[in-house]
Amino acid sequence: MDYQFLFDQHKATQSGAKQSQQRDLYHCLRDAILRGPLKAGMQLPGSRSLAAELKVSRNTVLYAYEQLITEGLLLSAGRCTLVAANLSTLVSSSVDANIIKPRQLSARAQLTPWPADPQGVFTAFVPGVPALAHFPIAIWRRCLERVWRKINFQQLDYGNTAGEPILRAAIAEHLTSTRGVVCSAEQILITDGTQQSLGICAHALASAGDIVWIENPGYGGAFQSFKAAELQVQGIKVDAEGIAPTKKDWEQSTPKLIYTTPSHQFPLGSVMSIERRISLIESAKQYAALIIEDDYDSEFRRDGPPLPAMQGLIADAPVIYLGTFSKTLFPALRIGYMVVPKGLVEPFAGMLALGHLRGRSADQLALAEFLRAGHFANHLKKMRRLYAVRRDALVTAINKHLADVAVIYGGSSGIHLTIALPEALNDVSISKAALAQGVYTQPLSKLATGSVLCNGLMLGYAQVPEEQMEENVILLAQVIEANKK
Ligand SMILES: Cc1ncc(COP(=O)(O)O)c(C=O)c1O
Repeated sequence: MDYQFLFDQHKATQSGAKQSQQRDLYHCLRDAILRGPLKAGMQLPGSRSLAAELKVSRNTVLYAYEQLITEGLLLSAGRCTLVAANLSTLVSSSVDANIIKPRQLSARAQLTPWPADPQGVFTAFVPGVPALAHFPIAIWRRCLERVWRKINFQQLDYGNTAGEPILRAAIAEHLTSTRGVVCSAEQILITDGTQQSLGICAHALASAGDIVWIENPGYGGAFQSFKAAELQVQGIKVDAEGIAPTKKDWEQSTPKLIYTTPSHQFPLGSVMSIERRISLIESAKQYAALIIEDDYDSEFRRDGPPLPAMQGLIADAPVIYLGTFSKTLFPALRIGYMVVPKGLVEPFAGMLALGHLRGRSADQLALAEFLRAGHFANHLKKMRRLYAVRRDALVTAINKHLADVAVIYGGSSGIHLTIALPEALNDVSISKAALAQGVYTQPLSKLATGSVLCNGLMLGYAQVPEEQMEENVILLAQVIEANKK
């Protein structure tokens, strides 16, 4: 056996961090036993002679041999070292440990259209990401430092299932005073963001096969969560007043759950009228359905204060209210919350305890401090002003460069707007071509469920400085022009 060749070949195939000689030799021999050419019963050279052949120290060889003996891959028989069982025949040569083939995924996962993350860092026009460059990092750091100075060892344990009581109280206070939510701190359950809240709602409130309505077009994250819980997802069309189910929808495909974004419809931007809200709540009561109200970015409404949440509109409205700090602060924080009816607090907390161990108390305590000290309200005030300027710049640029093809939807709230495009233009192709030019856009047709046809682009403007807005729109206009041909 040419051990020098084996060792050189092994080292040549290694990428990543450099390892010690001992680890290199150990891995080399281990691979040779598991995948060949070292076969059961073969005798390895003595440690001195192998060390001389490989020009390494004898300790390096002794380390590798001892490690492999401990793992049962080598045997020490008197003064000889032998390969143990015929392990290479047990390891299928066709298995590449680095590749999990799609067919090995569950049927559920294979049905999921995994979106590829765009390569690179984009600011224009990524939807759903706030102006991260304007987040007050220094203030946040001080809140964290204050918490860590006072933290005790008990707070390093698994956290309270429902979240830190002080944060739940601060959120309840904020929601009551700014969003018209009627709740006590006990009804607030902290989660890792809306995505987790949706998963918990789907699993806790519906069984596999139950019908859930989502807005059409609607939020892909909700679609994924409901599909993952094996619910029957039905898209319900959206009009200028929000989700618009017909009598036939209620009677022929009565939902268990209704997912909606009433304060700022995702993605089209309509605000649900008060009549529609009341009618949805009353029908949900009549048909024993629960409404999941995703209030993801209503804090940034410009045409007056945000409409109060559906949750507090009518006493005992069958509504689970979901909120997140991903848009108001930053997505990496991964803190969101659910406001659940009193009767559901215990079962929900029980479910959280089983499947979602809480932790990161320090982040939660720092957030409570950030809210209580008024930093949150200040930040929102600043961002509301900034986003208004950026939205206006985007609308002006669209009117100047895209008026012949684009119709603007939304923009009165949140951090994105949408443009509808004529049918002759393919939003997916345009989105791909724009990405190649460094501009990210979300094609609307990808957010449709079933038969609703929509063609256009979602444009997130929160991260685009006013002075860069026009150049990005010009780029988009050029891509659209090229796609007309
Ligand atoms: C409609 C909607 N809901 C919720 C969220 C936020 O989800 P999370 O709290 O998981 O970041 C987003 C993020 O893009 C969203 O677009």
